[in-house]
Amino acid sequence: MVVSGPITPGQVSFLLGVIPVFVTWIYSEYLEYKRTSSPTKVHSDINLDELGKDTIKEDDRAILLEAGLTRSASAKLHASSVKLNLIRFLTMDDSFLLENRATLRAMAEFGLILFYFYICDRTDILGDSTKNYNRDLFIFLFILLLIVSAMTSLKKHNDTSSFSARSMLYLNRHQTEEWKGWMQVLFLMYHYFAATEIYNSIRVFIAAYVWMTGFGNFSYYYIRKDFSLPRFAQMMWRLNFFVAFCCIVLNNDYMLYYICPMHTLFTLMVYGALGIYNKYNEIASVMAVKFLACFLVVILIWEIPGFFELFWSPFAFFLGYTDPAKPDVPRMHEWHFRSGLDRYIWIVGMIYAYFHPNVEKWMEKLEESETKRRVTIKTSIVSAALFVGYMWYEYIYKLDKVSYNKLHPYTSWIPITVYICLRNFTQHLRNFSLTLFAWLGKITLETYISQFHIWLRSNMPNGQPKWLLSFIPEYPMLNFMLTTAIYVLVWIFPSFIFLLLLLVSLKSTSSEIKN
Ligand SMILES: *[C@@H]1O[C@H](CO)[C@@H](O)[C@H](O)[C@H]1NC(C)=O
Ligand SMILES: *[C@@H]1O[C@H](CO)[C@@H](O)[C@H](O)[C@H]1NC(C)=O
Repeated sequence: MVVSGPITPGQVSFLLGVIPVFVTWIYSEYLEYKRTSSPTKVHSDINLDELGKDTIKEDDRAILLEAGLTRSASAKLHASSVKLNLIRFLTMDDSFLLENRATLRAMAEFGLILFYFYICDRTDILGDSTKNYNRDLFIFLFILLLIVSAMTSLKKHNDTSSFSARSMLYLNRHQTEEWKGWMQVLFLMYHYFAATEIYNSIRVFIAAYVWMTGFGNFSYYYIRKDFSLPRFAQMMWRLNFFVAFCCIVLNNDYMLYYICPMHTLFTLMVYGALGIYNKYNEIASVMAVKFLACFLVVILIWEIPGFFELFWSPFAFFLGYTDPAKPDVPRMHEWHFRSGLDRYIWIVGMIYAYFHPNVEKWMEKLEESETKRRVTIKTSIVSAALFVGYMWYEYIYKLDKVSYNKLHPYTSWIPITVYICLRNFTQHLRNFSLTLFAWLGKITLETYISQFHIWLRSNMPNGQPKWLLSFIPEYPMLNFMLTTAIYVLVWIFPSFIFLLLLLVSLKSTSSEIKN
């Protein structure tokens, strides 16, 4: 049963904001339709458009002159054009609406997707069902997906001989995205089927994501040296705007989607580590000191008892979280637990990124050396990796959840390193990637956040997604297929949301008639 709670001011403001956008977008579509369907009028309309634009340019120029072309002119101009655009929006200026039809459409779609989240997770229009785990089915589905993606999307990236930095980065991106993708699939399936027996591997996957945050952001800032505010703000926006809207519309705490605050934190840490005194980043000893400083900061915050609570207490208002099912747990516990598990691995990622060019050069040399030498070195690396991986599996992975979590922060680099060694040990393996998984790896943030509401169900503000969204009650597999298809399609064709909402409203009216 759904507990939607009272309507919050955030939800009301969202609705008040979305309705005008939606109406304006519809009107702009109507204008576009009118413009294209009447050929005789097209001419005059375009003229009008251009006239409109001209007058605006004139206006701008006047403002520019007024401001005397001082340094503040550009800022003022910007502010005034924002104001001008708002006025043009509010007065439903035809040419403005036509120009910005695509943006309006995207905003309307975004609003409707959130509206759909609300319908799925906070109303009783669609049903819910319980999770059910079957190891056989779980493995079957994953292997099936593996086969499908191998058959349809195995792709060779052909830059075997030219080991230029650019081609390596390019290769690397494909591989990392593929890696993200298959981990995400297992992570989502773990949630869908409540596959508690693979809990420990899920912890490793999350650690691998954080490793990638360290690796990717380090490479970016180290090579590009772009510490500018716009670029930084853009990244923070990309990481957090969707989750912020979900929190408003569904009345959830930020920490419910713990991946977002965690990645934001570690992205900030990498930015800080490289940004402070960034002029000296080329000097090896400075970098060594920086890595050491990162470790010391982590030890200070996470290892000294009581310091964590003290340090984060000013941020408790957005980092606190209480699971309605466990009301007695302290509000900061979730943040402590989640951020603590992966507190070191981002530094490991940065260190790997730092040495990446050297390793690459070494590998390049290895590929060119004589066969016997090459084979010996490679077999010894692979057998060492296999041996270490096996030992880790036997003595650490097999531990129960609680004792595993204690060791996780200090050991998660082992399976990650083993995977990297095995994934890269021949040129063939390095050059191939599964594009389907790579594609899934690109939308991990979207699929991560939306799973809570349109694939699973949490049924109440701040609730963990304990249920499944159910369209077809008596047929769990068909339902799985349908909800999964919708869940993914919304991100491929956002316009699909219109059809979807139509279907949902049909369903709700038909069930009302039945009652
Ligand atoms: C930095 O890390 C965040 C979080 O994982 C990621 O979204 C972002 O794309 C990374 N930036 C770069 C430049 O790799
Ligand atoms: C090996 O593969 C991983 C991803 O699969 C990648 O992140 C890493 O950079 C690769 N290492 C080298 C040295 O190419």
